[in-house]
Amino acid sequence: MATRSSPSRRASPRGATAVKRTRTRPPTGSAAASGPGAPAAPLAPTGQLATLRAWLAFAERAYADAGLALGQVASTAHDEALFLLLRLLGWPLDSDASVLDQRLDPAQRITLRQGLERRVRDRVPAAYVVGQAWLGGLRFHVDERVIIPRSYFVEHLLSGQLELLTGPARSVRRVVDVCTGSGCLAILLARHFPRATVDAIDLSPGALEVAALNVRAHGLDRRVRLHRSDVFAAVPAPADGYDLILSNPPYEPSAVCDRLPEEFRHEPRLALDGGRDGLDIIRRLLREAAPRLAPRGLVALEVGGLRAAMEHEFGHLGLLWLPSEDGSDCVCVIRADRLRAAASAGATALKAVAAKPGRSQTSAGRPAPALPEAGAKVPAPPARARLVKRGRSSTA
Ligand SMILES: C[S@@+](CC[C@H](N)C(=O)[O-])C[C@H]1O[C@@H](n2cnc3c(N)ncnc32)[C@H](O)[C@@H]1O
Repeated sequence: MATRSSPSRRASPRGATAVKRTRTRPPTGSAAASGPGAPAAPLAPTGQLATLRAWLAFAERAYADAGLALGQVASTAHDEALFLLLRLLGWPLDSDASVLDQRLDPAQRITLRQGLERRVRDRVPAAYVVGQAWLGGLRFHVDERVIIPRSYFVEHLLSGQLELLTGPARSVRRVVDVCTGSGCLAILLARHFPRATVDAIDLSPGALEVAALNVRAHGLDRRVRLHRSDVFAAVPAPADGYDLILSNPPYEPSAVCDRLPEEFRHEPRLALDGGRDGLDIIRRLLREAAPRLAPRGLVALEVGGLRAAMEHEFGHLGLLWLPSEDGSDCVCVIRADRLRAAASAGATALKAVAAKPGRSQTSAGRPAPALPEAGAKVPAPPARARLVKRGRSSTA
């Protein structure tokens, strides 16, 4: 079952073992071992470690001894430790494998020890230790004001799956990323849809500060607009409606959040906790989306492990599940006409109305987009576009 997961960035020097991105559920089973009261793992002496290779082996052992939770940056201790060590040294993630045998000077060794202590002893996520994370080949500033980017949407965007549904990228003009966090998806959307204006909404002022840094760093101030808003409450709907409303909202049930390993509790609870059954924000977003969509608009939602719950409550909206490489298929797409039909028939509950199959008329009287019906298969991305490899997260 997919839940809040983590695409890590390829963190391995060329020639070393391939890094797998992970997008997995925080390993709740290990939470007790790494819970708030767990003793901090002391780091063994490092005076003898001369090369990056020796530090890497040491770090992997330290991860295992401390039972660190993985899944925010990479799915294996090797990959995450390599990411951490390379970035602490300021070396590129795609460094040649020869860097492993480079001798480190005393200042570099102090930097590595201090960084590892934060990760192993304090259980600070590696991305926060180095203040950066990668998604879709882009670097983002991250700190404890935002969740570490690891959305499945990157796979659907880069593979072109989403574009199969929206129509050609250049035809997409108005997009909104609800629950933007670091702004990573808003930025990827703006780059993917080159003529689009992207509204990026978050309730957290801290998250919006981080998003502003990232939007500026990627040179997108003119096309990505940040809004502090509780879902759509403070954001006026665009005159012609959104072509795409996209959201990776908080969707973990509160009880899951209560049991998270310490690493995941460094992330803002607001970013993870979707209420008693995980659906709080999703219900609101779907209630408020219909009047904000263009006639042929789409809603795309990442829902983690809530697929069955979504089908139970919103199956009448014709949820179209996008296939992901690891089979978790936790992103669904909903057409504007299905939402409108449900909204006009059942108002807030959005229940009870199932639109008729086939091409239906939108409220504007134009044909609805030729989207596959629910249950139909969305073509998988071409193999060359499958840039993301994921595994299950686990403890080291
Ligand atoms: C899972 S994070 C997603 C962040 C980012 N889109 C990503 O994929 O990395 C969810 C975000 O939703 C924000 N959020 C939570 N409740 C919200 C609400 N009621 N209205 C707007 N944003 C909210 C949180 O602050 C957090 O940044």
